[in-house]
Amino acid sequence: MTSERPTILLTGATGQVGGTVLGELLDAGCRVICLARGRGGRTAEQRVRATLALVGRDPHLDFEVFDGDLTRPDLGLSPDALRRLAGVDRVIHSAARVAFEVVGRNEPFETNVGGTHLMLELARSLGGVPFTHVSTAYVCGQRPGVAPEAISTAPPAFRNPYEASKWKAELLVHAAGRDGLPVRICRPSIIVGGARDGRAVNFHGFYLICRALSAMCHLAGHDRLGADELILADLDVPGALDGPINLVTADFVGAAVARIGMMGPEVGGVYHLTHPTPPTLGELYDALSAFYRLHLPRVDARRPRPRPPTPRPRPVAPRPRGEAPRLRRRERMLAQASQRFWRFSEAVRPYFSETPVFDTRAARALLEPLDIRPAAIDRLTLQRVLEYAELTGFGKGPKPGGI
Ligand SMILES: NC(=O)c1ccc[n+]([C@@H]2O[C@H](COP(=O)([O-])OP(=O)(O)OC[C@H]3O[C@@H](n4cnc5c(N)ncnc54)[C@H](OP(=O)(O)O)[C@@H]3O)[C@@H](O)[C@H]2O)c1
Repeated sequence: MTSERPTILLTGATGQVGGTVLGELLDAGCRVICLARGRGGRTAEQRVRATLALVGRDPHLDFEVFDGDLTRPDLGLSPDALRRLAGVDRVIHSAARVAFEVVGRNEPFETNVGGTHLMLELARSLGGVPFTHVSTAYVCGQRPGVAPEAISTAPPAFRNPYEASKWKAELLVHAAGRDGLPVRICRPSIIVGGARDGRAVNFHGFYLICRALSAMCHLAGHDRLGADELILADLDVPGALDGPINLVTADFVGAAVARIGMMGPEVGGVYHLTHPTPPTLGELYDALSAFYRLHLPRVDARRPRPRPPTPRPRPVAPRPRGEAPRLRRRERMLAQASQRFWRFSEAVRPYFSETPVFDTRAARALLEPLDIRPAAIDRLTLQRVLEYAELTGFGKGPKPGGI
């Protein structure tokens, strides 16, 4: 099934998934060429090596990095780089614009749809090499019931333009498959840091809600290590408490994508890299509450609410003169914190309700014999994930092991 040490072209290696996949491919002895961008005064190669360090690998390992950009003609590759790709015999396309809103002229469509089109063309020009596409489980949109490991040709009700762009990209991959290119699609659910050490490269998705809670704690002057609990009854966190919230750790996704990406042309199909037994939203709230020492209000989206949702941003109620300034200051800070909570969490709130159950039979049949299984998303795992996020200031502070 797996050819010996294939040469793999990988996109997205400065990202969470791509960086983890790169580490796995190098461990497996593959030759890897990364297509990546330089930025912020650092070359593409420096950025990929820094990402490798972030995922806990030796940044000095042997691999190549070509300067490229999914939104540019010929992927921004020089004629020399294009010639040197001739020996590539697998493509793993992990790069994407993970932005939930339309930005600029036409993002995330330009990167996610246009970029996938260019990568498929490249795979064809390399002789029709197997193409592994990293998509998202949420191409199924907002729907109840079981989401199958299959292409949906009718557009579902998307939560945001990002999902729509990833769905359109899948259609391109599917069409290329029908035209003879060996293709397989990996669909992770919401990715959190590594199971063992919580290591993460980016802090979008799930982390937005954690950042929001963290910002509240800091702004309200509440140290999460302190003894007092802060009661934030007006937060209005949405979601059905007994509904699943599908989280998977980055190491599982990285291992699965790398192994599928190495496989030969006989392996096709769609694979849900999702958790077969995810925690419920109630369990997630409990873990977050325990970590941040907050009392999160228990709102069940499926039950009628006792009162309409809190308007935002919340105005600070005028107080009679003479009230203790300390109390007024605390109220102001809470109002400010509440605004921050909304700003950070708004994009991910739709993922807290109407979450489907993902069929994982195809992925399990392929990956379990290789001993690749999702780690349990229990309190300990979540604690490691949150501790790493806090330690690195959600990517803004010093990076342990970074170069
Ligand atoms: N994170 C999740 O929870 C999650 C869940 C399900 C599916 N996915 C999918 O997993 C894949 C990887 O996501 P991730 O979490 O690793 O995201 P990420 O950390 O934001 O990484 C995205 C990667 O794509 C690259 N990229 C974006 N635009 C590019 C362009 N125009 N040209 C070249 N490279 C470009 C980025 O490069 P720069 O560093 O230069 O921007 C980065 O390496 C994506 O396909 C995403 O849709 C992610």
